[in-house]
Amino acid sequence: MGREIAVFDSGVGGISVLRELVRQMPGEDFYFYGDSAHAPYGTKSTQEVRDLTIAHTKDFIARGCKGVVIACNTATSAAVRVLRQMYPDLPIVGIEPALKPAVENCPGGRILVLATPMTIREEKFHRLLAKYEDRAFVIPLPAPGLMEFVERGDIHSADLKDFLEKLLDPYRIGKPDAVDGVVLGCTHYPFVADTIAEVLGDGVRIFDGAEGTAREMRRRLDVAGRLEVDEKRTGRVIFANSQKDPEKIELMEKLLGHGNFA
Ligand code: DGL
Repeated sequence: MGREIAVFDSGVGGISVLRELVRQMPGEDFYFYGDSAHAPYGTKSTQEVRDLTIAHTKDFIARGCKGVVIACNTATSAAVRVLRQMYPDLPIVGIEPALKPAVENCPGGRILVLATPMTIREEKFHRLLAKYEDRAFVIPLPAPGLMEFVERGDIHSADLKDFLEKLLDPYRIGKPDAVDGVVLGCTHYPFVADTIAEVLGDGVRIFDGAEGTAREMRRRLDVAGRLEVDEKRTGRVIFANSQKDPEKIELMEKLLGHGNFA
């Protein structure tokens, strides 16, 4: 068993989760794999995404990784259950839209859930919705096309603002359907959170699942006796991507370092 924790996404979005993992477990080594060559996942069939996610997990196991974080809401909804059945001894943690903290912080409010078409269509999300829908008015909104901006490294442009204004117009402060909170139910979206906040208007609260996911991975590693115990150790991050393009690696490093570069 090696030291690395594998962190996987359909592309570069999962770095929003990696960022939190590194913050919570600075002594660990991480292997981040983005499958940008097959992105987007959110508009594929469930079976296709399940097959891709299983194949990547097999590679992580062959590499000796001691745990796997599926830092992609879409891949989690398609594959986490079957992966846990396949590898019951491996700590595998997925991510789901942060509806729980949103409902707790905006009780009785109007909450928009932005996610990929697949996340919103899948049973996993419907079960989550059923758990919380009596505590707030939840509006699921698929956002096909949004992750592509982040994949291009375009996280501040006029085009992005224009796209978000069109998508979010009915939910802006002052409109009849204005919302109190928005859940970023895709790991690419935290990188455009500033523009989402700007478009929706002052006072709209933003939630994402990275912090809870990282906490859960830490807990699972601890229970399995695989958590790094040397508090002085500084871990490292290795980036890999199915799109063999040095610019992609550069973008991933930039996203981890700054989150919101200009
Ligand atoms: N980052 C992924 C998620 O969290 C989805 C992006 C995609 O469509 O590939 O759902």
